[in-house]
Amino acid sequence: MSLNLASDNIAPAHPAVMEALARVNSGPATPYGKDDATARVEKLLAEIFEREVGVFLVTTGTAANALALAQMTPPWGAALAHHEAHVMHDECGAPEFFTNGAKMVGVAGEDGRISAAALADILSKNFWTPPTHVRPASITLSQATEVGTVYRSDHVAELSSIARERGMRIHMDGARFANAVASTRETPAALTWKAGVEALSLGFTKNGAMSAEAVVLFAPDLIDGLVERRKRGGHLWSKGRFIAAQALGLLENGLWLELAARANAQAARLTLGLAARSLNLAFPVEANEVFVWLPAEIHQGLHRQGSHYYVWDSDCVTAARAGRPGDVLARLICSWATPDEEVDAFLSAIDNAAPAKRASRSPGTPLF
Ligand SMILES: Cc1ncc(COP(=O)(O)O)c(C=O)c1O
Repeated sequence: MSLNLASDNIAPAHPAVMEALARVNSGPATPYGKDDATARVEKLLAEIFEREVGVFLVTTGTAANALALAQMTPPWGAALAHHEAHVMHDECGAPEFFTNGAKMVGVAGEDGRISAAALADILSKNFWTPPTHVRPASITLSQATEVGTVYRSDHVAELSSIARERGMRIHMDGARFANAVASTRETPAALTWKAGVEALSLGFTKNGAMSAEAVVLFAPDLIDGLVERRKRGGHLWSKGRFIAAQALGLLENGLWLELAARANAQAARLTLGLAARSLNLAFPVEANEVFVWLPAEIHQGLHRQGSHYYVWDSDCVTAARAGRPGDVLARLICSWATPDEEVDAFLSAIDNAAPAKRASRSPGTPLF
């Protein structure tokens, strides 16, 4: 049994995605996104979001984020993001590169969510005056966040309205948007444009695709130039039907939400098992990611038994959820493909890692 909770990117592509790829792999198809499969994705997304949308398929989340931010942020602008967001640290400067040098500015907030107070505070500073300073041009919200929490629609609306008052545009990095929809049980429309989001990077890869993402635009004025920007960025696939097919495999029959709910449920199963072992969580588990404080001996024992996960570092843990001296913060991610047996084997590996110590630990902090 593999014990690999390192990422949702380690999962294979879902069989429905492979079948959809096989289905489109026949005969000629018009290239460069003018094929029938792409048109079908556009239609499905318009239904899912309950309105007309602009859809631009790409193959990485980094491209989706960088292209979307470039549509809304001039080189002399600032794009605001949570200070631990993927766009800040994990995209090798792509947002700065695609925007021709706009400034990424980090905003604080507990549990990985930008706080409304911190956003209002940073926007009230006196370092936004042209021509010496950059202009606050856009804000990007990660849904789910880098630490596995989610924004409910009222959070999104509150942040959007603060940003809009300053004339800023609103982007959502939805690499795990499906997990957030499944978790909040709010509609895709409620979590995005109805709450002020103007552009969404909609992730399919972590959800079960091989490599497919979409920039979904809700604001018509953001469409102009994106087709060229995508081409210049090397993300216009000539055989576009093969990206579209991956999205179709997930969107048709609502599989995308079923798979996300499955991944979330496995994270909840894992969370219950960790709580039963009195291990403390660093963040509420709201989607498919679990951040747990592991005493060093457990971490070493898990490592010896061949478990894979990332050791994390975060400054946005609340005081009530802080680890104990020497604890290691482990990030555990479940995907649509994580079986019950793997979660249970991981928990057994914890029991094997330091059996004597387990019984004597004090109860953990509340789960949710
Ligand atoms: C929050 C978030 N945004 C965007 C991405 C996009 O990643 P990639 O460019 O690897 O597809 C990831 C991937 O880990 C992510 O976690």
